Amino acid sequence: MHKKVLVTGGTGYIGSHTVVELIQKGFSVVIADSLENSDITVLDGIEKITGVRPIFEKIDLSINYPTIELFKKYQGFSAVIHFAAYKAVGESVAEPLKYYRNNLNSLMNILEGMSVTNTPNLVFSSSCTVYGQPEKLPVTEQTPIQEANSPYGNTKQISEEVIRDFIHINEEINAVALRYFNPIGAHDSALIGELPIGIPNNLVPFITQTAAGLRESLSVFGDDYNTLDGSAIRDYIHVVDLAKAHVIAIERLADKINKSRIEYFNLGTGIGISVLECIKSFEKVSGKKLNYKIVGRRPGDIEKIWADTSFANRELNWKAEKTIDDAMLSAWNWEKNIRKIQQ
Ligand code: UFG
Repeated sequence: MHKKVLVTGGTGYIGSHTVVELIQKGFSVVIADSLENSDITVLDGIEKITGVRPIFEKIDLSINYPTIELFKKYQGFSAVIHFAAYKAVGESVAEPLKYYRNNLNSLMNILEGMSVTNTPNLVFSSSCTVYGQPEKLPVTEQTPIQEANSPYGNTKQISEEVIRDFIHINEEINAVALRYFNPIGAHDSALIGELPIGIPNNLVPFITQTAAGLRESLSVFGDDYNTLDGSAIRDYIHVVDLAKAHVIAIERLADKINKSRIEYFNLGTGIGISVLECIKSFEKVSGKKLNYKIVGRRPGDIEKIWADTSFANRELNWKAEKTIDDAMLSAWNWEKNIRKIQQ
């Protein structure tokens, strides 16, 4: 069976964890990444974990010609997992064209490359951001999509529509859009993990960097939400659980057991956890007291969201297995590893 998979953004956070799972399941992987937001040393981590160094192509996928050439060079792939995208919500508000240009051009170039080389299957990184602040929780895949509250979120909504319209006229191509909730944590080996550039925007890397002494204190954005402890609620999913779902999605498409030409799945744990609960979990597993202060709400943040994962559980025969404590411990082990902290 031809099992060569193109993983765009494969040196990034979710991408690198998915490459590990793919290799461990016997897939051969070609990573395409611009290295704009990731580091080539990630390949060393992947190799140490799996014993295999994936093929690597440094490429800006938002440029058409080299992207099509990449597809031709490998005579097509059995599938593409498309992670490569810009993902900073705040930056997307400040520089919308940068986001639309990169995230949409890359997708369109990849779709063209797939059609030119008869590549049949696509797995796309989408986000729970497409639901905005839902009225009813938990969110199912049928929860209405709401107007995006950032250009980043809008690129995810538009991308889902572009894929839908594209497969409509390309009947050999099938797609799965995976709507991630909040991916956190790192590989148990602590050899790969999240590597934010500059000051982290996201909660967990900010927590671990604060504990490691890189940041003075964590700001908790808001304690006046309508939640049990007043802080905002998200559905935090361990990145390794998330990575495994991608392999299942690829196999589902290869086995042609998908129920429609494009399927959407919520990937979360089904459990809502508050910011203050995250801090407690971190303090418990690390044995460290975290320096934090409550500040005002962060503009654009929603109050609460968590997933109804029953469709993904049933259809993919997949379930997030790791807990918030597992995720926090792995994130902390990763942070200690990269900062060379001993204890
Ligand atoms: N938070 C803090 N302090 C921080 C950072 C975050 O209190 O320093 C809080 C936020 O206010 C939020 C929670 O922690 O309540 C999670 O924030 P993140 O920035 O980690 O994640 P978001 O839920 O804001 O964003 C994530 C992804 C986006 C995606 C979005 C969809 O990072 O890519 O989920 O809801 F669009």
